[in-house]
Amino acid sequence: MKKVLIAALSCLTLLSPAFAADPIAARKDVFEQYKKTFGAMGKTMKGETPYSKNEFAKLAAHLDELAQLPWQHFPQGSDKGKTEARPEIWSKPDAWKTAISDHKAATAKLKQVATTDDMAAIKAQFGATQQTCKACHKSFRND
Ligand code: HEC
Repeated sequence: MKKVLIAALSCLTLLSPAFAADPIAARKDVFEQYKKTFGAMGKTMKGETPYSKNEFAKLAAHLDELAQLPWQHFPQGSDKGKTEARPEIWSKPDAWKTAISDHKAATAKLKQVATTDDMAAIKAQFGATQQTCKACHKSFRND
């Protein structure tokens, strides 16, 4: 009995991931920062907070930094636990990668237009970026 237990325990140790100790908490942490940053940008876009080119450009640059971060925290097997991540992330890796690269392209472009005075382009690109969040959540996150 004891041997079986030891074997089971060492097996668990082997299976435990070598990356972030808690990948689910790590990615949720980044997404919470997403919410803050993107939420602040949204308020400006809606006219709820006054527009400052500098402030908005800073937020856009920060968003583009954040857009590099969550994806490393989705190792195989991290669909178990307190997570809304869908199994399609791992069963459809190509679609998942496309959703990520579409999103990164959108945040990069938003960062760039945010440094210009073209408000129409800024608004359009903010909307396009939001679409990439929504599209990914629709396919890969449980509501
Ligand atoms: C490529 C896919 C993808 C993109 C793009 C994406 N998300 Fe998510 N998001 C997810 C997944 C998957 C989860 C679920 C994570 C979990 O529960 O483990 C999530 C969770 C979240 C959460 C909840 C975090 C929590 O504490 O549970 C927020 C808020 C969020 N995303 C905001 C955003 C915003 C804002 C954007 C766009 C600026 C965005 N996301 C873009 C895939 C994406």
